[in-house]
Amino acid sequence: MRILILTHSFNSLTQRLHAELARDGHALSVEFDIRDSVAEEAVALFAPDVVLAPFLKRAIPESIWSRHLCLVVHPGIVGDRGPSALDWAVAEGEAEWGVTLLQANAEMDAGDIWASRRFPMRAATKASLYRREVTEAALACVREALAQVPAWRDGAWRPTPLAEAAGQGRERPLMRQTDRAIDWARDDTATVLAKIRAADGFPGVADRLFGEACHLFDAHPGPAGITGEPGACVARRDGAILRVTVDGSVWIGHARRVEGEQAFKLPATEAFAEQAAALPERPVALMREDGEYGELRYRESEDGRVGTLEFAFYNGAMGTAQCRRLRAAIDAVAARPTRVLVLSGGPEFWSNGIHLNRIEAADSAADESWDNINAMDDVCEALIRLTDRVTVAALRGNAGAGGCFLALAADLVWAHPGVVLNPHYKNMGNLFGSEYWTYLLPRRLPAEMAARVMADRLPLVAPRAREIGLIDACFGGNAAGFETALADRAAALADDPDLASRLQAKAARRATDEAERPLAAYREDELARMRRNFYGFDPSYHVARYHFVSKTPQSWTPRHLARHRELGWADRKEAAA
Ligand code: COA
Repeated sequence: MRILILTHSFNSLTQRLHAELARDGHALSVEFDIRDSVAEEAVALFAPDVVLAPFLKRAIPESIWSRHLCLVVHPGIVGDRGPSALDWAVAEGEAEWGVTLLQANAEMDAGDIWASRRFPMRAATKASLYRREVTEAALACVREALAQVPAWRDGAWRPTPLAEAAGQGRERPLMRQTDRAIDWARDDTATVLAKIRAADGFPGVADRLFGEACHLFDAHPGPAGITGEPGACVARRDGAILRVTVDGSVWIGHARRVEGEQAFKLPATEAFAEQAAALPERPVALMREDGEYGELRYRESEDGRVGTLEFAFYNGAMGTAQCRRLRAAIDAVAARPTRVLVLSGGPEFWSNGIHLNRIEAADSAADESWDNINAMDDVCEALIRLTDRVTVAALRGNAGAGGCFLALAADLVWAHPGVVLNPHYKNMGNLFGSEYWTYLLPRRLPAEMAARVMADRLPLVAPRAREIGLIDACFGGNAAGFETALADRAAALADDPDLASRLQAKAARRATDEAERPLAAYREDELARMRRNFYGFDPSYHVARYHFVSKTPQSWTPRHLARHRELGWADRKEAAA
């Protein structure tokens, strides 16, 4: 089928649907919902069988839904209506939630129901539930609905009108900051966590830190037995600030100031750098039991043969200091006598490369970009040079740009089928990219395929990445299944009788590669190009980063997504018809 994706932005759900439906054999094009007339033009050019709206912030115009089948993803159970569906579900502790696929009509979220799915809720942020459960459920709904389209056209099947559906949802208003507000004198830790999770990644909970207005994000349970006035800031760790609650404490990882030049999300200790500097550092051991907050954690299997290094950086963004801490952790765990080292990124994102928000906040964005990419390269180099054990990049979440290439620095890259990879840099103002990608990518892909992946700038789902050889294995069904299967796979690798010869071959290959062309030469060439991106006369990277960090609304759809706007598209369409 010809499917036009009409969406507010090419967000994670839209990327997943795009990649999966393309694999299913559909012809896809994307138009951002900028203006009715632009959407109308896109529909006229593409002549879609179906308009699919995975992520819209306003209604589809009547001129489109009255003439074309328009299916809208609503992240709520049947009968639920309103713009804050998932926010209410998280805030009110729903045990189960769901996704409904509706046919657009004159009333928002009230169209006929084509498909729906339910899922058990997790104690997680709204964004996490959206990227995992909602995305899986939406994909299942869309596939089910597309399969019904021929029967619907023949009049042999009809969707269920909302009034006839036995849904338990109801219409809910937009959740406002007054609904989200934390009462530090009353709310216990669980309530504070639920309120912030319901607002994370957007819009955060409006509050005050050090007497100044800001929005809070990225909350984690803190230690018990912390005394002080509820709401008081008492310590810092890994960019987070520890605040007292009535029954314990919470770590606040990120904050966004409401006013000023830095009114975008930053690590809390950076958003309030001066005040946070006066707080005592509360360090945490790298090797520790689960449950104590910290960005880095290392653990070993009972037999000591498999080490796992977790690095859970918020949004997968890796600032200079974070890269340096990770590099130091890799050096530390390299001294352990393990056979396999699993690098397990965060549960949400493996990595999205250098930290664009921190760069934007720096006095010199160019200098900070330079420091950050060098620190990132140091992490990659430490992994590439770790030849005495097998290294595995375990992708529990998505990876983008430099984050993808960081994964390729490991010997093996494993993911679950829900992982979306964006192995390209050009979307960020034509950035050339580093992370030794000019060494790592050709090891995995033939030149033509490598060039295509970099130039197409399209997301790949893990099964496709596995097919072309970009990653090595895709298993587990979903994020939860992956985590369960991961330990067994890593143990089997450590038990492999051929491990010694495998490691010998690895060390020999590294030596040969180094003799052919030293790693330093790859780095130098990449960084020469990056220097031009950062310091050269073309400001594209700085402009793109500014818009990315400021979340400037889209004003046009990139050509690589809007295929209906390609020259010659209309001729090809006619020829196909
Ligand atoms: N630095 C800082 N923040 C980043 C980031 C980065 N490198 N990559 C992603 N984020 C943030 C986003 O701003 C967003 O923030 P929010 O919580 O306020 O909404 C959040 O992470 C999720 O990103 P989003 O873009 O909504 O996710 P997505 O799944 O729709 O798209 C990417 C994923 C990777 C395609 C997209 O985030 C991206 O292009 N990131 C930039 C990658 C990059 O160019 N890195 C620098 C070069 S190495």
